[in-house]
Amino acid sequence: MATIKDVARLAEVSTATVSRVLNRNGYVHPETKVRVAKAIEQLNYRPNDVARSLFKGRSKMIALFVPDIMNPFFPELARAVEDMTRQHDYTFVLCNTDDDPDKEIAYVEALKQKSLDGIVIVSSTMSGDYIKNFEIPVIALDRILHPSLSSVTVNNRAGSRQAVDYLKEIGCERIAHIAGPEHASNAKQRLDGYLDAVKEEDWFKYSYVEYGEYHFEEAKEATKRLLEKHPEIDGLFVANDLMGVGALKAAQAMGIDVPGQLSIIAFDGITLGETTSPTLTTMAQPIYKIGARAADMLIRQIEQQERTKQTEEFTVELIERESTKRRDGS
Ligand code: RIB
Repeated sequence: MATIKDVARLAEVSTATVSRVLNRNGYVHPETKVRVAKAIEQLNYRPNDVARSLFKGRSKMIALFVPDIMNPFFPELARAVEDMTRQHDYTFVLCNTDDDPDKEIAYVEALKQKSLDGIVIVSSTMSGDYIKNFEIPVIALDRILHPSLSSVTVNNRAGSRQAVDYLKEIGCERIAHIAGPEHASNAKQRLDGYLDAVKEEDWFKYSYVEYGEYHFEEAKEATKRLLEKHPEIDGLFVANDLMGVGALKAAQAMGIDVPGQLSIIAFDGITLGETTSPTLTTMAQPIYKIGARAADMLIRQIEQQERTKQTEEFTVELIERESTKRRDGS
Protein backbone atom coordinates (compact mmCIF):
# COMPACT_ATOMS: atom_id res chain seq x y z
CA MET A 1 0.00 0.00 0.00
CA ALA A 2 1.36 3.44 -0.98
CA THR A 3 2.30 5.92 1.74
CA ILE A 4 2.55 9.71 1.81
CA LYS A 5 6.32 9.28 1.44
CA ASP A 6 5.85 7.33 -1.83
CA VAL A 7 3.64 10.12 -3.15
CA ALA A 8 6.19 12.75 -2.13
CA ARG A 9 9.02 10.80 -3.78
CA LEU A 10 7.14 10.35 -7.05
CA ALA A 11 6.00 13.98 -7.17
CA GLU A 12 9.50 15.14 -6.12
CA VAL A 13 8.20 17.23 -3.24
CA SER A 14 8.30 17.01 0.55
CA THR A 15 5.70 15.09 2.56
CA ALA A 16 4.68 18.46 4.07
CA THR A 17 3.76 19.66 0.55
CA VAL A 18 1.70 16.53 -0.11
CA SER A 19 -0.03 17.11 3.20
CA ARG A 20 -0.76 20.76 2.27
CA VAL A 21 -2.32 19.62 -1.01
CA LEU A 22 -4.41 16.95 0.71
CA ASN A 23 -5.65 19.29 3.38
CA ARG A 24 -5.94 22.36 1.19
CA ASN A 25 -4.05 24.56 3.59
CA GLY A 26 -1.03 26.75 2.87
CA TYR A 27 0.19 27.87 -0.54
CA VAL A 28 1.29 25.27 -3.09
CA HIS A 29 2.28 26.24 -6.66
CA PRO A 30 -0.44 25.08 -9.13
CA GLU A 31 2.02 22.98 -11.15
CA THR A 32 3.18 21.25 -8.00
CA LYS A 33 -0.45 20.53 -7.08
CA VAL A 34 -0.96 18.82 -10.42
CA ARG A 35 2.19 16.73 -9.93
CA VAL A 36 1.01 15.66 -6.47
CA ALA A 37 -2.48 14.85 -7.74
CA LYS A 38 -1.02 12.71 -10.56
CA ALA A 39 1.22 10.84 -8.12
CA ILE A 40 -1.75 10.19 -5.84
CA GLU A 41 -3.73 8.82 -8.74
CA GLN A 42 -0.87 6.76 -10.14
CA LEU A 43 -0.13 5.15 -6.77
CA ASN A 44 -3.80 4.86 -5.85
CA TYR A 45 -2.87 6.51 -2.55
CA ARG A 46 -5.65 6.53 0.10
CA PRO A 47 -4.61 8.44 3.22
CA ASN A 48 -6.01 6.70 6.24
CA ASP A 49 -8.61 8.77 8.01
CA VAL A 50 -6.91 9.00 11.38
CA ALA A 51 -3.55 9.94 9.91
CA ARG A 52 -5.22 12.50 7.63
CA SER A 53 -7.08 14.13 10.47
CA LEU A 54 -3.91 14.17 12.58
CA PHE A 55 -2.06 15.99 9.81
CA LYS A 56 -4.95 18.35 9.28
CA GLY A 57 -4.73 19.81 12.76
CA ARG A 58 -8.48 19.60 12.66
CA SER A 59 -9.07 19.20 16.37
CA LYS A 60 -6.88 22.16 17.45
CA MET A 61 -6.33 20.20 20.62
CA ILE A 62 -3.12 19.14 22.30
CA ALA A 63 -2.46 16.97 25.35
CA LEU A 64 -0.08 17.27 28.27
CA PHE A 65 0.90 13.97 29.92
CA VAL A 66 2.20 14.27 33.49
CA PRO A 67 3.26 11.46 35.83
CA ASP A 68 1.88 12.80 39.11
CA ILE A 69 -0.82 15.43 39.36
CA MET A 70 -0.50 15.37 43.17
CA ASN A 71 2.94 16.97 42.93
CA PRO A 72 2.40 20.78 42.78
CA PHE A 73 5.23 21.04 40.22
CA PHE A 74 2.88 19.65 37.57
CA PRO A 75 -0.12 21.98 38.01
CA GLU A 76 2.36 24.89 37.80
CA LEU A 77 3.68 23.41 34.57
CA ALA A 78 0.18 22.71 33.24
CA ARG A 79 -0.83 26.33 33.83
CA ALA A 80 1.89 27.48 31.43
CA VAL A 81 0.91 24.94 28.78
CA GLU A 82 -2.72 26.00 29.07
CA ASP A 83 -1.91 29.73 28.75
CA MET A 84 0.16 29.10 25.65
CA THR A 85 -2.44 26.87 23.98
CA ARG A 86 -5.17 29.46 24.60
CA GLN A 87 -3.05 32.19 23.08
CA HIS A 88 -2.91 30.11 19.90
CA ASP A 89 -6.63 29.19 19.99
CA TYR A 90 -5.99 25.58 20.86
CA THR A 91 -7.63 23.56 23.61
CA PHE A 92 -5.74 21.38 26.00
CA VAL A 93 -6.31 18.12 27.84
CA LEU A 94 -4.38 17.00 30.87
CA CYS A 95 -3.63 13.28 31.34
CA ASN A 96 -2.30 12.00 34.64
CA THR A 97 -0.36 8.80 33.91
CA ASP A 98 1.18 7.73 37.24
CA ASP A 99 4.24 6.81 35.14
CA ASP A 100 2.26 3.71 34.16
CA PRO A 101 2.95 2.66 30.54
CA ASP A 102 -0.47 0.97 30.20
CA LYS A 103 -2.24 4.18 31.21
CA GLU A 104 -0.04 6.20 28.86
CA ILE A 105 -0.87 3.96 25.89
CA ALA A 106 -4.58 3.93 26.74
CA TYR A 107 -4.61 7.76 26.69
CA VAL A 108 -2.73 7.88 23.38
CA GLU A 109 -5.14 5.48 21.72
CA ALA A 110 -8.21 7.33 23.04
CA LEU A 111 -6.85 10.70 21.95
CA LYS A 112 -6.02 9.46 18.45
CA GLN A 113 -9.75 8.96 17.94
CA LYS A 114 -10.23 12.64 18.76
CA SER A 115 -7.75 13.71 16.08
CA LEU A 116 -5.32 15.13 18.59
CA ASP A 117 -2.78 17.52 17.05
CA GLY A 118 0.24 16.95 19.31
CA ILE A 119 1.52 15.93 22.73
CA VAL A 120 3.77 17.48 25.35
CA ILE A 121 4.90 14.57 27.47
CA VAL A 122 6.57 14.25 30.86
CA SER A 123 7.38 10.56 31.22
CA SER A 124 10.09 8.17 32.28
CA THR A 125 8.26 5.04 31.27
CA MET A 126 6.76 5.34 27.79
CA SER A 127 8.87 3.58 25.19
CA GLY A 128 10.71 6.04 22.97
CA ASP A 129 10.38 3.61 20.05
CA TYR A 130 6.59 3.64 20.41
CA ILE A 131 6.46 7.45 20.45
CA LYS A 132 8.87 7.81 17.55
CA ASN A 133 6.26 6.36 15.21
CA PHE A 134 3.46 8.79 16.12
CA GLU A 135 2.01 10.68 13.18
CA ILE A 136 1.77 13.80 15.32
CA PRO A 137 4.53 15.92 16.87
CA VAL A 138 5.63 15.11 20.41
CA ILE A 139 7.79 17.24 22.72
CA ALA A 140 9.47 15.64 25.74
CA LEU A 141 9.30 18.07 28.63
CA ASP A 142 11.40 17.93 31.82
CA ARG A 143 12.70 14.39 31.15
CA ILE A 144 14.55 13.09 28.07
CA LEU A 145 12.62 10.16 26.64
CA HIS A 146 14.31 9.28 23.36
CA PRO A 147 17.27 10.87 21.57
CA SER A 148 15.20 11.49 18.44
CA LEU A 149 12.54 13.58 20.22
CA SER A 150 12.49 17.36 20.62
CA SER A 151 12.84 18.30 24.27
CA VAL A 152 12.72 21.14 26.79
CA THR A 153 14.64 20.47 30.01
CA VAL A 154 16.84 22.15 32.65
CA ASN A 155 20.54 21.72 33.52
CA ASN A 156 19.85 18.99 36.09
CA ARG A 157 23.41 17.76 36.52
CA ALA A 158 25.15 21.15 36.75
CA GLY A 159 22.33 22.55 38.92
CA SER A 160 22.66 19.64 41.37
CA ARG A 161 26.39 20.07 41.57
CA GLN A 162 25.80 23.74 42.34
CA ALA A 163 23.41 22.77 45.17
CA VAL A 164 25.99 20.48 46.76
CA ASP A 165 28.82 23.01 46.28
CA TYR A 166 26.63 25.54 48.07
CA LEU A 167 26.21 23.13 51.03
CA LYS A 168 29.99 22.75 51.17
CA GLU A 169 30.48 26.48 50.99
CA ILE A 170 28.22 27.09 53.99
CA GLY A 171 30.33 24.61 55.97
CA CYS A 172 28.57 21.22 55.69
CA GLU A 173 31.11 18.42 56.07
CA ARG A 174 29.05 15.27 55.49
CA ILE A 175 26.57 15.65 52.66
CA ALA A 176 24.01 13.02 51.62
CA HIS A 177 21.49 12.73 48.78
CA ILE A 178 17.88 11.56 48.66
CA ALA A 179 17.55 10.59 45.00
CA GLY A 180 14.52 10.38 42.70
CA PRO A 181 13.43 7.24 40.83
CA GLU A 182 16.26 5.36 39.14
CA HIS A 183 14.32 5.11 35.84
CA ALA A 184 13.81 8.91 35.49
CA SER A 185 16.50 10.54 33.33
CA ASN A 186 16.54 13.77 35.32
CA ALA A 187 16.78 11.92 38.68
CA LYS A 188 19.83 10.14 37.31
CA GLN A 189 21.32 13.47 36.19
CA ARG A 190 20.71 14.98 39.66
CA LEU A 191 22.39 11.99 41.29
CA ASP A 192 25.33 12.40 38.90
CA GLY A 193 25.57 16.09 39.85
CA TYR A 194 25.71 15.14 43.53
CA LEU A 195 28.40 12.52 42.85
CA ASP A 196 30.43 15.00 40.76
CA ALA A 197 30.61 17.23 43.84
CA VAL A 198 31.34 14.60 46.52
CA LYS A 199 32.95 11.49 45.09
CA GLU A 200 36.53 12.77 45.60
CA GLU A 201 35.89 13.69 49.26
CA ASP A 202 37.61 11.36 51.76
CA TRP A 203 34.42 11.16 53.84
CA PHE A 204 32.15 10.10 50.96
CA LYS A 205 30.30 6.76 51.14
CA TYR A 206 27.78 5.32 48.63
CA SER A 207 25.47 4.64 51.58
CA TYR A 208 25.01 8.43 51.79
CA VAL A 209 22.53 7.96 48.89
CA GLU A 210 18.97 6.77 49.55
CA TYR A 211 16.09 6.64 47.03
CA GLY A 212 12.79 8.46 47.55
CA GLU A 213 10.83 8.03 44.27
CA TYR A 214 10.01 11.79 43.78
CA HIS A 215 7.32 11.27 46.46
CA PHE A 216 6.74 12.84 49.87
CA GLU A 217 6.21 9.63 51.91
CA GLU A 218 9.04 7.65 50.34
CA ALA A 219 11.43 10.58 50.87
CA LYS A 220 10.38 10.86 54.50
CA GLU A 221 11.12 7.17 55.05
CA ALA A 222 14.39 7.35 53.11
CA THR A 223 15.56 10.33 55.19
CA LYS A 224 14.72 8.54 58.42
CA ARG A 225 16.73 5.47 57.31
CA LEU A 226 19.64 7.64 56.25
CA LEU A 227 19.83 9.73 59.42
CA GLU A 228 19.48 6.69 61.68
CA LYS A 229 22.36 5.02 59.85
CA HIS A 230 24.47 8.17 59.53
CA PRO A 231 23.86 10.66 62.38
CA GLU A 232 27.00 12.51 61.24
CA ILE A 233 25.17 13.90 58.15
CA ASP A 234 24.96 17.70 58.35
CA GLY A 235 23.91 18.53 54.77
CA LEU A 236 21.20 16.98 52.61
CA PHE A 237 20.52 17.50 48.90
CA VAL A 238 17.04 16.20 47.98
CA ALA A 239 16.00 15.52 44.37
CA ASN A 240 12.77 17.55 44.42
CA ASP A 241 10.90 19.96 46.68
CA LEU A 242 8.05 17.62 47.57
CA MET A 243 10.65 15.14 48.80
CA GLY A 244 12.46 18.04 50.48
CA VAL A 245 9.36 18.66 52.58
CA GLY A 246 9.30 14.93 53.44
CA ALA A 247 12.97 15.12 54.48
CA LEU A 248 12.26 18.15 56.63
CA LYS A 249 9.38 16.37 58.37
CA ALA A 250 11.52 13.26 59.00
CA ALA A 251 14.36 15.31 60.52
CA GLN A 252 11.96 17.26 62.72
CA ALA A 253 10.23 14.06 63.88
CA MET A 254 13.67 12.75 64.94
CA GLY A 255 14.31 15.92 66.95
CA ILE A 256 16.98 17.19 64.54
CA ASP A 257 17.16 20.96 64.25
CA VAL A 258 16.94 22.23 60.65
CA PRO A 259 19.05 24.20 59.85
CA GLY A 260 20.94 24.21 63.21
CA GLN A 261 22.19 20.61 62.91
CA LEU A 262 21.19 19.78 59.35
CA SER A 263 20.94 21.99 56.25
CA ILE A 264 18.49 20.85 53.56
CA ILE A 265 18.38 21.98 49.93
CA ALA A 266 15.98 20.55 47.33
CA PHE A 267 15.19 21.10 43.64
CA ASP A 268 12.20 22.60 41.72
CA GLY A 269 11.20 25.96 43.29
CA ILE A 270 7.50 25.18 43.78
CA THR A 271 5.43 27.50 45.96
CA LEU A 272 4.99 24.76 48.58
CA GLY A 273 8.62 25.30 49.64
CA GLU A 274 7.74 28.81 50.82
CA THR A 275 5.00 27.54 53.12
CA THR A 276 7.00 25.17 55.34
CA SER A 277 8.67 26.06 58.60
CA PRO A 278 11.55 26.55 58.04
CA THR A 279 11.04 27.54 54.40
CA LEU A 280 12.91 25.36 51.93
CA THR A 281 16.12 26.36 50.15
CA THR A 282 15.96 25.13 46.56
CA MET A 283 17.39 25.07 43.06
CA ALA A 284 14.46 26.69 41.28
CA GLN A 285 13.50 25.58 37.80
CA PRO A 286 11.86 28.22 35.56
CA ILE A 287 8.71 26.05 35.66
CA TYR A 288 6.38 28.42 33.81
CA LYS A 289 8.98 29.17 31.13
CA ILE A 290 9.76 25.52 30.34
CA GLY A 291 6.04 24.64 30.12
CA ALA A 292 5.30 27.61 27.86
CA ARG A 293 8.33 26.93 25.69
CA ALA A 294 7.37 23.27 25.18
CA ALA A 295 3.80 24.22 24.21
CA ASP A 296 5.04 26.93 21.84
CA MET A 297 7.52 24.50 20.23
CA LEU A 298 4.74 21.94 19.77
CA ILE A 299 2.27 24.38 18.23
CA ARG A 300 4.90 25.65 15.80
CA GLN A 301 5.67 22.09 14.74
CA ILE A 302 1.96 21.40 14.24
CA GLU A 303 1.30 24.54 12.24
CA GLN A 304 4.42 24.34 10.11
CA GLN A 305 3.97 20.58 9.62
CA GLU A 306 7.62 20.33 10.44
CA ARG A 307 9.22 17.90 12.86
CA THR A 308 12.89 18.82 12.93
CA LYS A 309 14.36 17.88 16.30
CA GLN A 310 14.87 20.85 18.64
CA THR A 311 16.37 20.74 22.13
CA GLU A 312 16.41 23.49 24.71
CA GLU A 313 17.97 23.48 28.16
CA PHE A 314 17.10 26.14 30.74
CA THR A 315 19.17 27.03 33.82
CA VAL A 316 18.14 26.52 37.46
CA GLU A 317 18.72 29.18 40.09
CA LEU A 318 19.68 28.91 43.77
CA ILE A 319 17.06 30.37 46.11
CA GLU A 320 18.36 30.57 49.69
CA ARG A 321 15.68 30.22 52.35
CA GLU A 322 15.59 29.11 55.99
CA SER A 323 16.38 25.38 55.73
CA THR A 324 20.10 26.08 55.17
CA LYS A 325 22.47 28.08 57.35
CA ARG A 326 26.22 28.79 57.51
CA ARG A 327 27.90 26.57 60.09
CA ASP A 328 29.53 29.66 61.65
CA GLY A 329 25.96 30.81 62.37
CA SER A 330 25.82 33.69 59.85
O1 RIB B 1 8.74 17.35 41.38
C1 RIB B 1 8.54 16.62 40.23
C2 RIB B 1 9.83 16.31 39.64
O2 RIB B 1 9.65 15.54 38.58
C3 RIB B 1 10.51 17.58 39.25
O3 RIB B 1 11.72 17.67 39.87
C4 RIB B 1 10.58 17.56 37.82
O4 RIB B 1 11.78 18.00 37.31
C5 RIB B 1 10.10 16.19 37.49
O5 RIB B 1 10.88 15.39 36.74
